[in-house]
Amino acid sequence: MTKLLIVYYSRTGNTGKMACEIAKGANEVEGIEVLSKRVDEATLDDLVNASGIIIGSPTYFRQMAADLKSFIDKSIDVYGKLKGKFGGVFTSTGTKADGEKCLSSLYEALDRHGIKVIGKVLSVEAPADKELVACRELGRKLARKLIDDGK
Ligand SMILES: Cc1cc2nc3c(=O)[nH]c(=O)nc-3n(C[C@H](O)[C@H](O)[C@H](O)COP(=O)(O)O)c2cc1C
Repeated sequence: MTKLLIVYYSRTGNTGKMACEIAKGANEVEGIEVLSKRVDEATLDDLVNASGIIIGSPTYFRQMAADLKSFIDKSIDVYGKLKGKFGGVFTSTGTKADGEKCLSSLYEALDRHGIKVIGKVLSVEAPADKELVACRELGRKLARKLIDDGK
């Protein structure tokens, strides 16, 4: 089975809700095994074994939260093994402008690994219907891409 990994941090649940919807969208695609993990449960093997990787964080001081950044920093141990995978990024934020900056920090982390980021979602605080739809679309789009490319 083609694996799609979602790794996220969430303190008050908003980013967690987004992760849940992304997983729902991805699960609609046949042939995809979706693993959605809080960052404290995720392992470096999870990253290596997945064909697609989506990371999400609340916006903290215009960046990703430290818990996720710490996991990203540890991923230097698998540097070179994630190249060519496909990815996505998402954030819940207080303000759109700061959320965009957080999305950039998430994008840069994946891009530095050679992961091709093909989608992003931003929600101001809790995701409303529009953002929930965008999350499902992100999951579905990445899952389809993996299947179509035979990953
Ligand atoms: C420590 C901390 C730092 C934050 N920094 C920012 C910030 O720089 N810009 C912003 O727009 N919102 C900021 N926020 C608001 C959160 O991004 C927002 O409430 C988000 O929805 C929380 O996501 P969660 O429910 O997944 O934890 C901050 C919140 C906390 C707790």
